[in-house]
Amino acid sequence: MSTSGARPARKAVIPVAGMGTRFLPATKAVPKELLPVVDRPALQYIVEEAARAGLPEVLMVTGRNKGAIEDFFDSTPELETALEKKGDAARLDAVRSSTDIAQVHFVRQGEAKGLGHAVLQAAAFVGDEPFAVLLGDDLIDARDHLLEQMLAVQAEHGGSVIALLDVGMENIDKYGAVAVEPGGQPALDGDEVVTVTGLVEKPPVDEAPSSLAIIGRYVLSPQIFDVLRETEPGRGGEIQLTDALATLVARGEPVHGVVFSGRRYDTGDKLDYLKAVIRLAAERDDLGPALRTWLHEFVSELPAEGASPA
Ligand code: G1P
Repeated sequence: MSTSGARPARKAVIPVAGMGTRFLPATKAVPKELLPVVDRPALQYIVEEAARAGLPEVLMVTGRNKGAIEDFFDSTPELETALEKKGDAARLDAVRSSTDIAQVHFVRQGEAKGLGHAVLQAAAFVGDEPFAVLLGDDLIDARDHLLEQMLAVQAEHGGSVIALLDVGMENIDKYGAVAVEPGGQPALDGDEVVTVTGLVEKPPVDEAPSSLAIIGRYVLSPQIFDVLRETEPGRGGEIQLTDALATLVARGEPVHGVVFSGRRYDTGDKLDYLKAVIRLAAERDDLGPALRTWLHEFVSELPAEGASPA
C-alpha cells in the first residue's frame, strides 16, 4: 500500500547553482553543467533522463553566473531560421530537440547554502507530491534505467528512494554514506532494493556506516520540505539533504535505496569526465567506428605506465 497518496512523481528538480571549481579555469565563464560531453552539454543528458523516466516538468535551481543555462533551454529563432535557410535539417533537429525535451523552469537559490537549501527552493513548484532530484555531476548511461526503477519503488512503497553505489571505503568520505538492511523486495534490472536505516554526510572513513554512497538521484516525499526548513547547517556549514533524510528515517518514515549496478560517470571529476566522453563517443554510430580504430592504434603505441610519451 502506498503511503504517498498514490500520486506518482511527475516533476524533477535539478540543482545547478554549484561553482564548478574542479574545472577552473574553464568554468570561469561557462557553467560546468554546459561543458560538452561529446556534443551535448552534460545537463542535456540529465534533462533527457528525466523526460525518459516520465518527468516532463523540470525545475532548475540556479545561482549567479548561470544565465547561459537559461539561454540554452530557450528557443533560438535566429539560429533556427539560419539553419532552415541552409537546408541543414540534421543540425536544425539537434537544436530544436535540445529545447523541446521538457518544460524547463528556473528559480534562483539566492545564497548558496547547500544541497538541502537548493532543494527547499523547489517547494512551491513541487507542491504536495513526490518528486525526483537529479544532480548534474552524475551521468547515468541511457541504457540503464535507474530513475525509472526508483520511481517504481516509490509508487509501490511510498516514502523516499535514494540511489546507492558501492564506492569502496577509500572513497566514502566524498559522499553521503548509508546504513542499510535487506529490503525484502525483488531486485529490479539486477539492482538490489534495500531499506535505509541511517545516513551520514561525508563521514571520515572510520565513522562510515558502510561503503554504500548516495549517488545523485533521489525520489523524495514532499515531507522532506518541512524537515529541510528545520534542518540546521551540517557538514561544511551547509544545509545537507542527507541530514534531512536521516531525520525522516529517525521519524520512522520509509527511505528505500536502489543499489545501482549499471554505468555511472562523475562528470565533475576530470578523469571520469574524459572516460565518459570517450566511452559515449566510441559507442555512437557517427563517431564510433573512426574513434575506435584510432583508439586501438593510440593504445598500442602508448608507453608503459611510468614511461613518458615520445
Ligand atoms: C552531494 C550530496 C552527497 C552525495 C553526492 C552525490 O554532495 O551531499 O550526499 O553523495 O552529492 O554526488 P556533493 O557532491 O554536492 O558535495
